[in-house]
Amino acid sequence: MKKEQVVNCQFSVWYPIFKKFTIKSLILPLPQNVIDYLLDDGTLVVPESASNTPQTHNNTSDSEGDDVQWSDDETTETVKAPEFPDFNAKVLEAINSLGGCVFPKLNWSAPRDANWIALNSSLQCQSLSDIFLLFKSSDFVTHDLTQPFIHCSDQDSPDPTISYELVLRKWSELIPGGEFRCFVKESKLIGISQRDYTQYYHHVSKQEDSICQSIQDFFRDHIQYKFLDDDFVLDVYRDSCGQVWLIDINPFGPVTDSLLFTWEELSSGSRLTASQPQDDMPQEERPAFRYTTSEVTVQPSPCLSYRMPRDFVDLSTGEDAYKLIDFLKLTKRQQEAEESEGEA
Ligand SMILES: Nc1ncnc2c1ncn2[C@@H]1O[C@H](COP(=O)(O)OP(=O)(O)OP(=O)(O)O)[C@@H](O)[C@H]1O
Ligand SMILES: [Mg+2]
Repeated sequence: MKKEQVVNCQFSVWYPIFKKFTIKSLILPLPQNVIDYLLDDGTLVVPESASNTPQTHNNTSDSEGDDVQWSDDETTETVKAPEFPDFNAKVLEAINSLGGCVFPKLNWSAPRDANWIALNSSLQCQSLSDIFLLFKSSDFVTHDLTQPFIHCSDQDSPDPTISYELVLRKWSELIPGGEFRCFVKESKLIGISQRDYTQYYHHVSKQEDSICQSIQDFFRDHIQYKFLDDDFVLDVYRDSCGQVWLIDINPFGPVTDSLLFTWEELSSGSRLTASQPQDDMPQEERPAFRYTTSEVTVQPSPCLSYRMPRDFVDLSTGEDAYKLIDFLKLTKRQQEAEESEGEA
């Protein structure tokens, strides 16, 4: 995999070519101060104006002019997040024009590893603060910003210049059982893998032939020879009507998850084996189709290792007041126990 292949898989490169066959999206250039904010480890607070929901404040007008101060300025440190009024306005306008709910990503990656932190446990965003919360918690987003060319073979050549972009895609309820990853080598579709291989989907094994055929047709009619490279990885969605849509294009190499294949197999050039023998198609034209064949093989979700215990999130966001009270009681009890131990 060469640096140029990674460059070609940026959203803003492939989207104009395949716009008709994918989810409606808007691309906004990321200003440098927003990139700096995303990369800054210290600022976890999201800017107040980045939220489109009204903020509730406890200080009422009654206290105005009073000498009474609720907080001691010398001891209370308020962490202020930077504000991005112009960018915020552009993002809100884009979100509104996409129907009010969006799926956000950068040039290559979505913050899939951070959905646990969102209050709705999803990547659905309605404001810039929703997007910031996900992006700042995501290693995948940091990867895009800091080391996009990490697995490239031409390490000695200079890194191409990247213009960072915020991609906002219209929110669409995709059923995981309809998602497939297609591996394209030398402009030929060589393998198709179920994307969510952690689950067994009865309909996939039942409709194997028609799924495989509709993806092959989609590839031949709309994608083949139209992309800038001969080797790439295509993510597609087959909806309940059997229509196939393009979801994403990824580099053909180890930065992309090979799912039910291995990169060794995919790059070897030898014929790939399918999950089940597919007899009714000519050998030459047939991509190997792999899917999870029984419930026994079900595996844990690959993003689980990025999660924090839900309790940590609830406590840190103050979401669950009862949990917070329990936590404080526990801490107090511990303190008391330590004190009585010290006295004894
Ligand atoms: N517009 C959308 N609305 C809702 N969910 C979406 C949307 N686009 C993608 N998704 C969901 O998010 C998942 C990840 O999206 P996408 O493939 O764009 O992210 P990615 O970071 O490129 O992933 P990968 O690292 O696997 O290439 C998809 O498999 C799909 O389930
Ligand atoms: Mg991708």
